[in-house]
Amino acid sequence: MDDTEEILAHLTGTVVRGAGRGHGLGFPTANVAADPGSVVPPAAIYSGWVVRHTSGVVHPGTISIGSNPTFCDTIEVHVEVYCHDTSDEFYGERVGVWFVARIRDTVKFASSDDLIRAARRDVLRSEELLASGRGRRVRTGALAAYGKTLSP
Ligand SMILES: Cc1cc2nc3c(=O)[nH]c(=O)nc-3n(C[C@H](O)[C@H](O)[C@H](O)COP(=O)(O)O)c2cc1C
Repeated sequence: MDDTEEILAHLTGTVVRGAGRGHGLGFPTANVAADPGSVVPPAAIYSGWVVRHTSGVVHPGTISIGSNPTFCDTIEVHVEVYCHDTSDEFYGERVGVWFVARIRDTVKFASSDDLIRAARRDVLRSEELLASGRGRRVRTGALAAYGKTLSP
């Protein structure tokens, strides 16, 4: 099987505060509290698009789903999105997360530096996936679902 198994999924939720560690790692993330009833994909790293419902703005992103085992946070599963094109904090906003592909398993790294190196590679891979035919199709589908038209 390809290492970037295609998946078809999206979830909606509200952006909430995380542990606040992401900035220090160089990968600030929007933590999304998934709506009750949302189907959250299994723990892994994914590429996908984030649609901000109020503004309709779409951000390219790399998504971490899991309990952040490197930091032994909790058993609670977090949905965290690193947006490639903004460091805006959008606490309280309603968002949709549209998954394009699974990149890899979540790993318990020996150090933050190892995690940072892996995250840099993830973001590069995610950019490729978002620019692919499938990535663009998912973006078009997401915008259609919100009744928006694509800018050229
Ligand atoms: C691209 C990316 C890949 C990640 N991969 C892992 C991973 O493999 N293992 C892990 O423990 N955490 C991983 N994380 C999650 C980070 O541990 C988490 O974003 C960080 O601890 C900040 O959490 P906070 O927003 O709650 O402060 C990843 C995050 C991103 C953005």
